[in-house]
Amino acid sequence: MGLDLTGRSVLVTGASAGIGAALAEGFAERGATVGICARREDRLRKVLTACQAHSPESRMWGVDLADLDGIETFAHRANAELGGIDVLVNNAGMPKRRKVLALSEGDIDNVMALNYRSPVRLILALLPGMLERSRADGFTRRIVNVSSIAGRLSPPGEAAYSASKAALTAFSEALAGELWQEPVDVHVVFPGVIDTELFELPDNDPHLASDMERLPPAAVVDAVLDQMESGKFESYVPEWLADIVTGKARDAQGFMEGAAAYLREQEEKAARS
Ligand SMILES: NC(=O)c1ccc[n+]([C@@H]2O[C@H](COP(=O)([O-])OP(=O)(O)OC[C@H]3O[C@@H](n4cnc5c(N)ncnc54)[C@H](OP(=O)(O)O)[C@@H]3O)[C@@H](O)[C@H]2O)c1
Repeated sequence: MGLDLTGRSVLVTGASAGIGAALAEGFAERGATVGICARREDRLRKVLTACQAHSPESRMWGVDLADLDGIETFAHRANAELGGIDVLVNNAGMPKRRKVLALSEGDIDNVMALNYRSPVRLILALLPGMLERSRADGFTRRIVNVSSIAGRLSPPGEAAYSASKAALTAFSEALAGELWQEPVDVHVVFPGVIDTELFELPDNDPHLASDMERLPPAAVVDAVLDQMESGKFESYVPEWLADIVTGKARDAQGFMEGAAAYLREQEEKAARS
């Protein structure tokens, strides 16, 4: 069974679907009381029912996390109703598959608000209490930030999304360094292509890497639980993506040439079909 979270509370954002729903159920299966939030309450209710089968005290909140002014109030409410959050999972996010020349300022602001500024606001609101409780009771609390391989590789056609995930990644790295000697651990997970509704959402260009294998959300759940058990700061899903990131750091010029060629190839393929 691995990680035992019996009696602990976990807040998972963006848990009405996809990776967040799978994470919520994974935490509930391991005994945690799960708090889930997203905008679509009908979808959240189904996830909540699955969580409550393992963990009856689990609860949900319908909330729009792109409304940054509401986040602090929501964070304090969730914290109070869960009796103090032990694990914060910043998973809610939106794609933005659009080339730079077609991006509006609104596109950039929206994706940055949800993917970067909202998790940061949740962290700012919840971290002081997490630190205080961890220093008092010796239990290491956790912050798990769901980034994306795009935050490391910046694929063409996803500049705004990649920038938002790179910002979340950089924030997480600096935070983890600041907290290294403290009893709150920070983890970042970098999913590659996971089979969720993210690729069907309107207002996005078609996904360029459409021929890449889509892994199930459970693969991210396994990676996150493994990270929390082992204390690893970062993980990639699938793991071999780490080699691409290392290769890019070693040869940025070669990587850029490869990325440009891949874009051309995918566009030609799309034009033919
Ligand atoms: N799928 C992939 O291949 C992949 C790869 C790398 C990283 N990721 C990241 O993984 C995370 C989860 O994505 P997913 O693939 O599971 O996508 P998804 O199936 O579209 O789920 C996104 C979740 O975020 C919630 N959400 C979206 N906008 C929100 C808002 N304004 N306020 C509150 N909740 C909001 C959605 O719920 P509502 O619509 O009900 O609000 C949903 O629960 C995201 O951060 C994404 O960037 C995914």
